[in-house]
Amino acid sequence: MAEKKFELTNLVTGKKSVAEVKSGTLGPDVLNIASLGKDHGLFTFDPGFMATAACESKITFIDGDEGVLLHRGIPIEQLAEKSNFLEVAYLLINGELPTGEQSAEFTNAIGHHTMINESLLRFFNGFQYNAHPMAMLSGVVASMSAFYHDSMDINNPRHREIFAHRIIAKIPTIAAAAYKHSLGQPFVYPRNDLDYGSNLLHMFFAVPCEPYHIDPVTAQALDLLFILHADHEQNASTSTVRLAGSTGANPYAAISAGISALWGPAHGGANEAVLAMLEQIGTVENVPKYLAKAKDKNDNFRLMGFGHRVYKNFDPRATIIRAMCHKVLAKLGKSDNPLFELALRLEEIALKDDYFVERKLYPNVDFYSGIIYSAIGIPPSMFTVMFAIARTVGWVAHWQEMISDPAMKISRPRQLYTGAGKRNYVEVGKR
Ligand code: CMC
Repeated sequence: MAEKKFELTNLVTGKKSVAEVKSGTLGPDVLNIASLGKDHGLFTFDPGFMATAACESKITFIDGDEGVLLHRGIPIEQLAEKSNFLEVAYLLINGELPTGEQSAEFTNAIGHHTMINESLLRFFNGFQYNAHPMAMLSGVVASMSAFYHDSMDINNPRHREIFAHRIIAKIPTIAAAAYKHSLGQPFVYPRNDLDYGSNLLHMFFAVPCEPYHIDPVTAQALDLLFILHADHEQNASTSTVRLAGSTGANPYAAISAGISALWGPAHGGANEAVLAMLEQIGTVENVPKYLAKAKDKNDNFRLMGFGHRVYKNFDPRATIIRAMCHKVLAKLGKSDNPLFELALRLEEIALKDDYFVERKLYPNVDFYSGIIYSAIGIPPSMFTVMFAIARTVGWVAHWQEMISDPAMKISRPRQLYTGAGKRNYVEVGKR
């Protein structure tokens, strides 16, 4: 392939330089501006990273205009139909689908790390019963660095692999402990004879005083939701994990940073916010009033679960989840779910509205996920925790990719300084 170049000219001084254009396998080319400072004494200015590729990656590809999402090249629709969450986890982390033997080994490795240290369990007593579970999750995951600090050499590939197994295995256990703590119920230990989703349901919903029967429809729905949330290239929380991890920080601490970033309503917190919004809207008759609020620049109400930084078309995950809502609600005998009816009508009305059409605002992954979580008994405060459990796999894959790259550098953005110029300190009596 011919080498691509880009000429940059300073229109004031006339100074010219040539920048390299890098091409990926798919997607637009990127301009390598690393020499801009040396050649022109300039940095680029791109608040919110609207136009910046922060790294090279082989894990996930999104074509936002076409609504395409590929993990290691495989379309999300195929993974959703044919795969399972742990297989997708293996694919994201290792780059290839596992053979039968590799899959069994991986599942076994995850199964052998599901318990958490009893001391870690006692951390929950330090939280109020009404603490948000995302706060507990982020705090307790960060604390894991205290338990595995000495056995975690980030330059040792085997240590990194054990870290991956540990965090993927333990995050549902920690999430369930947070949930049980909020209810005041006893913690339920993991069961390694169960698959990933069924074990999570067992730890969430079993109680010591009666048997708990795992509903296969519910377990299947959870597994599918986890596949759909597993990775999404350089989103805010993944970039946070990369940035924190780039300092050489303990990876549990980096994952905890990612959990904190995910919590915000513009990111993973949107699934909880969507349900609250649907309840607030209440009936189809109120939809025009709330759409008007969403369009009003003086009103901070936004249509939660709508819009995406990358997708300017249907989010393929939302399309899968919408179809899944119909199936799961029917199988659970909850087809007449009024919030789902409202969400469908809201989508229909918004997609005909010029404001949403012009800005290419479509439902995203969070628009319908809360409806399924609710139907399978997960309370709204735990929705983003569910997202965090699934996204842990993506965070691990990206952290691994970054750390194993010999060219890794600490992430250190620059700034456009607009504060005061240099000035002298003024003694307190003279201010
Ligand atoms: N409701 C109303 N207007 C919206 C919405 C919305 N949900 N989203 C974007 N807009 C408008 C926005 O006001 C702006 O209009 P204008 O050009 O007139 O100023 C235009 O659309 C572009 O929006 P933006 O905020 O500049 O776009 P962004 O790429 O910075 O933000 C977003 C993307 C996802 C944060 C935003 O669409 C949003 O806040 N959506 C609601 C929250 C949400 O559902 N988040 C989940 C995202 S997907 C899952 C995940 O990442 O975890």
